[in-house]
Amino acid sequence: MTKLLHIDKNMDVPVSEAAGIIKDGGLVAFPTETVYGLGANALDAEAVQSIFTAKGRPPDNPLIVHIAEKSQVSEIAEVPVAAIPLMDTFWPGPLTLVMRKKENIPPVVTAGLDTVAVRMPAHPAALALIRAAGVPVAAPSANRSGRPSPTTAAHVLEDMDGLIPCILDGGSCRVGIESTVLDVSRHPYAILRPGDVTARMIEDVLGEAVELPEVFVSAEENGPVRSPGLKHTHYAPHAPMTVVTGTEGRIAAYIQRETGRGRKEGRTIGVLAAAETASRYQNARVLSLGSRTDPREMARNLFSALRRMDEWRVDAIYAEGIVPKGEGLAFMNRILRAAGFRTVDTDEEENP
Ligand code: TXA
Ligand code: MG
Repeated sequence: MTKLLHIDKNMDVPVSEAAGIIKDGGLVAFPTETVYGLGANALDAEAVQSIFTAKGRPPDNPLIVHIAEKSQVSEIAEVPVAAIPLMDTFWPGPLTLVMRKKENIPPVVTAGLDTVAVRMPAHPAALALIRAAGVPVAAPSANRSGRPSPTTAAHVLEDMDGLIPCILDGGSCRVGIESTVLDVSRHPYAILRPGDVTARMIEDVLGEAVELPEVFVSAEENGPVRSPGLKHTHYAPHAPMTVVTGTEGRIAAYIQRETGRGRKEGRTIGVLAAAETASRYQNARVLSLGSRTDPREMARNLFSALRRMDEWRVDAIYAEGIVPKGEGLAFMNRILRAAGFRTVDTDEEENP
């Protein structure tokens, strides 16, 4: 049985119970501003190994190490000078930096790489937990491998009940998708995973351009894989999912055709829509993720919507695409990966 520890105004009691488990080599799920993490003492190889077991995570996919003070970073990584202004600007917050690792980080954390990913989360309970544990905390997202990342304690329980001793319940995550991962271990710096901190925000601080991942193709087709996590299946809902791109009108027309066809064939179609177009779909299970003008809102609601589609046992899912730039890049990256890169570009279709 997994125990839920609620965080209220005085979080000392639940946090010190959870920190005790980490000190003893156990696992604790905890809230961050992005998604829930599944944490263990990053300096304890055996404890970290049990994260991989609980998640069913491939051993070649390295973990992010979470710290509670900026000064902790130099204990575990070689910090390039250029990264300091990034930490000063974005920490605590949803930016993970990949740097050369120091000796004390066991190979199981980094999947044998000579770099380590580090982040200081912007969540009071996460920071209190790391401080109380007194060690850096290795934590991937707290989902079973391949499932959408959890943005509530209930999502963690769905995936992890019975597999971990406890979950710190801090309510819903404010950002709702995982942190931006930026590799500063070699030049040119590269965003390995887009997130709430955009390329533009990073470039404004660095004063130089960073490389961006190509969102419409899978990591394997994208050349040599610089981030091992990118090559694994992610977020996949049970039903086949398709991302539909193009102009708003054409996207809606295409999905309307598919929902109409589904109805005739007796299949249940799920639609992940923007608020502006959600009311156009009948005969379907429609979830509005938020306004097209606010990609951050759409991102925040995405993972719980994917879980809802599974609960509804829909037979197929269509997701409306948005412009894959700026704030929209992270959202598009996640829905494309959830869809296994299955896309329809309605601007290229003949006779729409
Ligand atoms: O927001 C987040 O980042 C959440 C919360 C819990 O902090 N964590 C998270 O962890 O999303 P995870 O394990 O689901 O994703 C970690 C990503 C993976 O894509 C992994 O491949 C990449 O970071 N990563 C970790 N260490 C790396 C390294 N040394 N080099 C390149 N990529 C690395
Ligand atoms: Mg994950």
